[in-house]
Amino acid sequence: MGLFKKWFQDVPLSSQNITKVPLHLAIIMDGNGRWAGKRGLPRSAGHRAGMERVRETVEICLEVGVKYLTLYAFSTENWRRPVEEVNFLMDLFEKSMKVEVAKLHQHKVRVRFIGLRHGLSPTLIKLMDESQELTEANDALTLNIAINYGGRSEIVVATQELLRAVVNHEITPEGITESAFSNRLFTSGQPDPDLLIRPGGEHRISNMLIWQSAYTELYFSDLFWPDFGREQILKALHYYSKRERRFGRVEGAQHDA
Ligand code: IPE
Ligand code: IPE
Ligand code: MG
Repeated sequence: MGLFKKWFQDVPLSSQNITKVPLHLAIIMDGNGRWAGKRGLPRSAGHRAGMERVRETVEICLEVGVKYLTLYAFSTENWRRPVEEVNFLMDLFEKSMKVEVAKLHQHKVRVRFIGLRHGLSPTLIKLMDESQELTEANDALTLNIAINYGGRSEIVVATQELLRAVVNHEITPEGITESAFSNRLFTSGQPDPDLLIRPGGEHRISNMLIWQSAYTELYFSDLFWPDFGREQILKALHYYSKRERRFGRVEGAQHDA
């Protein structure tokens, strides 16, 4: 038994034996700064290393059939960081977009940006708009990049829109249903995330997709994002395969009672 267990644990994780694939995977890419600190490097080196992991993550999603991938890159709260770090990150987003979007387009990835435009530079906004336009018709994978994103501000903006619609008699207060609300979020038309991965050791959501993740499976890891490679993503996908999602029903039930 001991031997069998050992053999079993040594079997390399493969994308082939994932029995249940999340339709929508979300990742809070955390731990870049600490990864760098541990190596005596500046935090910026951690952000650069973190960016390297993105390509690999997209590749796995294409390989296993994840259809929506949401990556948390910069939160509405991250403006509180030192201006040098914020500027470095904005510059990194611009540079990465210039290089990566063409490759994503080749792989039929549709790129979307979720979050508020306010506060971002005109150059970055232009690149974001161009990337969205270029990749609009792609259907292999939808990649949502969350920049200047916060779940609370998203909910507030949706509420303002709904209220405006009520005031203009376009809908009644009763017309504010869960689906009407969902349709006003940045992720409108997309399924809710099935799995949320957070590396970096913290067990919190940090304002990520707070409406959409009501029933999302959560996977935490102590590894820092720059160390969260292919094997780690596969491990998280295997974890997800084994979850029974009940959505309030009883175990094994197929239908609403
Ligand atoms: C995540 O890594 C990237 C961003 C929030 C932009 P951090 O920069 O938060 O790294 P830690 O958590 O300080 O290690
Ligand atoms: C969450 O990480 C935001 C991103 C990864 C973009 P943070 O490092 O900002 O989260 P907190 O501050 O530790 O909650
Ligand atoms: Mg962090």
